[in-house]
Amino acid sequence: MSGVSLNGITKAYGQLEVVHGIDLEVQEKEFVVLVGPSGCGKSTTLRMIAGLEEITDGDLSIDGRYVNQVAPKDRDVAMVFQNYALYPHLNVADNIAFGLRIRRTPKAEIESQVKEVGGILGLTEYLERRPADLSGGQRQRVAMGRAIVRQPKVFLFDEPLSNLDAKLRTQMRAEIKRLHKRLGVTSIYVTHDQVEAMTLADRIVVMHDGRIEQVGTPMDLFLNPANTFVAGFLGSPPMNMVDAKIVAGETGPIAEFDGNRLQLAKLPSLENAVGTEVILGIRPEFVTVAAKDEGGNVPVDVDLIETLGSEALIHASLQGAPFVIRTETVGQMDILDGISGFNIEPHLIRVFDKATGQALPGQVLEQ
Ligand SMILES: Nc1ncnc2c1ncn2[C@@H]1O[C@H](COP(=O)(O)OP(=O)(O)O)[C@@H](O)[C@H]1O
Ligand SMILES: [Mg+2]
Repeated sequence: MSGVSLNGITKAYGQLEVVHGIDLEVQEKEFVVLVGPSGCGKSTTLRMIAGLEEITDGDLSIDGRYVNQVAPKDRDVAMVFQNYALYPHLNVADNIAFGLRIRRTPKAEIESQVKEVGGILGLTEYLERRPADLSGGQRQRVAMGRAIVRQPKVFLFDEPLSNLDAKLRTQMRAEIKRLHKRLGVTSIYVTHDQVEAMTLADRIVVMHDGRIEQVGTPMDLFLNPANTFVAGFLGSPPMNMVDAKIVAGETGPIAEFDGNRLQLAKLPSLENAVGTEVILGIRPEFVTVAAKDEGGNVPVDVDLIETLGSEALIHASLQGAPFVIRTETVGQMDILDGISGFNIEPHLIRVFDKATGQALPGQVLEQ
């Protein structure tokens, strides 16, 4: 039962509170990703779990044990950082074995562990090399090897891939995922990269200004963002936001803006919001494009079309703000040439209260 439980976890540096009472239950074997913009408190939260940072207030339990006062080395967690500090004078095998030697693990066991972990990480041929003779990806694997041999209850990762180039990052991301499938160790992973969060996580925790905005599976957060912050943070390109007012129509609630009308879903919360200002969240992927002179569409000013092969990104503007459409190219090249507007099905429009930024209740998109 090696879960991690955060209860009202708070961090203040002097008078300045930077993490404001986080509640989170990480289940055994779960891979949870904390994601959010730089400075939102991800590393501080992770470091409090690791014991590298004192907890100002709240309770932390690992594997059912209250560990607020427990020293880092006795928490049974292993951390992998962005700046993996390998010992330059030790070879790969000795770097991996370092933590075991400190713990006075018997020599034979160290050898078999290093061999096994080296094999898992594809480092078998490199065990005799020094860090200076390894690529960035191999070094990062050694750093992970050091964490794995300790057989911790929990892995903590703080932006471990940030120093790698794009190609290597994608490759290592898949390796971390495979490793988690194989070892099944409870993992908490911090990143500012929403693509990493979407691809790695069983559940994503979106943080902002020292608070949790939303917790859920990647698809649930993508389809049902609780507020405009999450809507704008997850997805690439991000969700388009359009200011509108809800009016009553014969066929249910209508969103009205700049003389345009878009039918909304017939939900009680939207019907009750007639007369209020809202923000429409429109995913670039959820719209259908329309050629010139087709009626009933919202016109946009197309600025640039990027053709990516099977898909195209249409950069346009609406209400003077960027509006992006992502669409398939197959069978649509003629439309793309003369695109002048879009349409979207009512249930695919996400409606947020303009004053609070929160999604109006009852809107659920199933996967
Ligand atoms: N030792 C410190 N003293 C004072 N403020 C700090 C310290 N460490 C971090 N902070 C502040 O705490 C906030 C959260 O930082 P951090 O957890 O590193 O964010 P993230 O990892 O999400 O980028 C930031 O505003 C940062 O400036
Ligand atoms: Mg950080």
